Amino acid sequence: MRTEQPQMIRLSAYQQPDYLINETHLTFELYEEYALVHAQLVMQRNPALDTNLPPLHLDGQELSLQRLALNDRELSADEYQLSPYQLSLQPDSEAFVIDSTVRIEPQNNTALEGLYKSGGMFCTQCEAEGFRKITYYLDRPDVMSRFTTTLSADKNRYPVLLSNGNLIASGQAEEGRHWATWEDPFKKPAYLFALVAGDLWCVEDRFTTLSGREVTLQLYVEPKNIDKCQHGMDSLKKSMRWDEEKYGREYDLDIFMIVAVDDFNMGAMENKGLNIFNSSCVLAKPETATDATYQRIESIVAHEYFHNWSGNRVTCRDWFQLSLKEGFTVFRDIQFSADMNSKAVKRIEDVAYLRTHQFAEDAGPMAHPVRPEEYLEISNFYTLTIYEKGAEVVRMIHTLLGEKAFRQGSDLYFARHDGQAVTCDDFIQAMQDASGQDLTQFKRWYSQAGTPVLNVTDHYDPQQQVYRLKVKQSCPATPGQPDKAPLVIPLAVGLLDAKGRDLPLQLAGETQASIGTRVLVVTEAEQTFEFIKVTDAPVPSLLRDFSAPVNLFFAYSTEQLVFLLKHDSDGFNRWEAGQQLAVRAIKALMADAKADLSAFIHALGAVAQDPTLDVALKAEIFSLPSESYLIEQFTQADVQAIHQAREALRLQIAVQLKDALWTRYQSARHISQEVEYSAQADHVARRRWQNVALSYLMLTELPEIVLACVDQFEHADNMTERFAALTCLVNSSLCYEKQQALAAFEREFADDAQVMDQWFSVQAGSFLKGGLGRVKTLMQHPKFSIKNPNKVRSVIGAFANQSLVNFHQADGSGYAFLAEQILQLDRLNPQMAARILAPLTRWQRFAEPQRSAMKKQLQRIQQAEQLSPDVYEVVNKSL
Ligand code: PHE
Ligand code: ZN
Repeated sequence: MRTEQPQMIRLSAYQQPDYLINETHLTFELYEEYALVHAQLVMQRNPALDTNLPPLHLDGQELSLQRLALNDRELSADEYQLSPYQLSLQPDSEAFVIDSTVRIEPQNNTALEGLYKSGGMFCTQCEAEGFRKITYYLDRPDVMSRFTTTLSADKNRYPVLLSNGNLIASGQAEEGRHWATWEDPFKKPAYLFALVAGDLWCVEDRFTTLSGREVTLQLYVEPKNIDKCQHGMDSLKKSMRWDEEKYGREYDLDIFMIVAVDDFNMGAMENKGLNIFNSSCVLAKPETATDATYQRIESIVAHEYFHNWSGNRVTCRDWFQLSLKEGFTVFRDIQFSADMNSKAVKRIEDVAYLRTHQFAEDAGPMAHPVRPEEYLEISNFYTLTIYEKGAEVVRMIHTLLGEKAFRQGSDLYFARHDGQAVTCDDFIQAMQDASGQDLTQFKRWYSQAGTPVLNVTDHYDPQQQVYRLKVKQSCPATPGQPDKAPLVIPLAVGLLDAKGRDLPLQLAGETQASIGTRVLVVTEAEQTFEFIKVTDAPVPSLLRDFSAPVNLFFAYSTEQLVFLLKHDSDGFNRWEAGQQLAVRAIKALMADAKADLSAFIHALGAVAQDPTLDVALKAEIFSLPSESYLIEQFTQADVQAIHQAREALRLQIAVQLKDALWTRYQSARHISQEVEYSAQADHVARRRWQNVALSYLMLTELPEIVLACVDQFEHADNMTERFAALTCLVNSSLCYEKQQALAAFEREFADDAQVMDQWFSVQAGSFLKGGLGRVKTLMQHPKFSIKNPNKVRSVIGAFANQSLVNFHQADGSGYAFLAEQILQLDRLNPQMAARILAPLTRWQRFAEPQRSAMKKQLQRIQQAEQLSPDVYEVVNKSL
């Protein structure tokens, strides 16, 4: 047990900083055994506060102080106090300069926070509170400062020296060393600071901004990755153009740099002018990266770039406001990806992800509002709720205000707050002021946790030709929030006539009808919407395009769902009807292995044949709800039963639709062989449909299909096709083909860390028996390292999040294994340890004996000595 409890930080306790840092001058001397960091802080008393001089507390962790001076006067040890977290001293004037020198050991930094080494290079990660591991500072986002940074290092090992802003000087030094000085003209909080020193190659391009300024674009990578930069660079240029056109946001420095590093806790980081990326989120070429990776890269490059305005120029006042930058920026990258690719498919993918993972978080012990009220460790709050639900909240504002007023609101927000550190309330206020719409009640989305429920019933009155939709909203209790107030919920609906066409919609009291979708604004606990002049009982299409992050219930008949799947003009709701049918089919199979599934399978058959339906949408409709999503549909989930029923349904679909799937597979594969590889949307869609078909067909293990699969694995010229075939083989019972393929793949890609991540995860995530043994074997592989987050994710993470039947073994062996890994990892990298803990925190969702076995492992972790605050917080909240 830990002896000293970490301190709870509360939003209600927010206070302005006592002191400001106007200028920050940093000098880094980088060596193999240590680094020296000199910081000169030009400070002043916060002019917004009164003039007395309270003690100054600078944040600092794991620093060894070598020297400290105030206004050029060296301080002796009795003139300041040091604790493991702070350096305190008493200023004697309103304006003063602090000089400090600290010694740190980047080469021993396994937490990957602060200054650390990845491969052979030095790099930094400062968000949220990593800067305090670099030097003593006011490490909070509302302290914004102008930075100059000088780095010096051995010239041979580290020919490239980078930091934020513009390079203003550089030169040679003694003993084979060199140095560079960078100046960032924009004030920024310390979390946006970055430096990189390494032996890197760079791909360079240019971009001309709307107003005609020339910007140099550079993507720095290890030399072996120089052929994997094109897509990242293309994505960057598209993002820059899009942000100008869609939001009027121009880039503001003369240079924009991206650096790829192999060891990174998250996806990427938006440091001013110097984004640092996890290699897996920026590097790609067709032979090594799948279409899914291509799309992820496009969206993450855009996300980090968009932060330059939503995050950097306008930043967060405190970390409770994290969703101010993250929710808004995710919303922006989603809009961007939707514009670059298929809109409906993008929405489907995002909603599937949100409903599976964010809804689970919001229903569990870690549930928190989009703007949390308290935390122990801020790193634990980089959550699906802050990011994904936060983006949904912004999306609802967009829906309520409309495109034009939303843009005016965003323009006002950026103009009003440029250079400031602000709050979610400031964002809403700008939206409200620009649109004239009162968003007071809407703000509850920021303070109330939990996924709201909409229960909808309908009634048709043929005499009066009136159709009524009655909507009841509620929200389940979440930790610390037993009672919930009604939210503002935009509910997009359409009504379908007997032929499946959209009816004109006219609400009682309106003089005119409108065609197509219409947004009903639900504001009360219970509300009825009355449509007039409805000549026949319609089929309602509810929550079109998933207009709000809620669970909607309506008692559709199977026939109605089949009808919607066939006819709905809303692509998202066609897919949704299919998903609901699939959930019903799986539940029916769980109750009775001989259940009649003909309605659903027949409807899928029609989807496969439908020549008018977008191929990308077909592939989505054929993708059954994931096991994780299904688990969330039960109060006491039986993972084994869910898995068996889902696989049984897949097999029945494969057997009954074999001919249709086989024809379509062959023609798609044929085109893939004929045309040159392209990452364009229509090619991606074709490959996706081809691979979804293959994954069904392979369940039959018919010889001609196995041959086709092996052929695709061996001869396709791109990773999308090869990896899909490999996945099918790995999950098949074909031992020989599987071993051959895995061995060939490993030989070919042994030196490509990203492809090896895929190789690890396809095995660790497999549902075939013996998963735990497989994972333990994989962890012995020379390319596995528990210090590398990508490897941890692709082995331990894939096992616990994808190989659900193996992780949830009744004897609890999967849980015990995960607990051991967490305890080991917690000593190296607390952020990662807390993240891979997430699956155990859901224990209450599962039936016995899993439930108790999961809880037992949480208790075991709780009892361990010296837990990090990260793991401590998650474990204690979940028990
Ligand atoms: N701010 C980063 C992003 O959203 C995520 C991140 C957080 C990266 C914390 C590292 C550490 O893009
Ligand atoms: Zn972000």
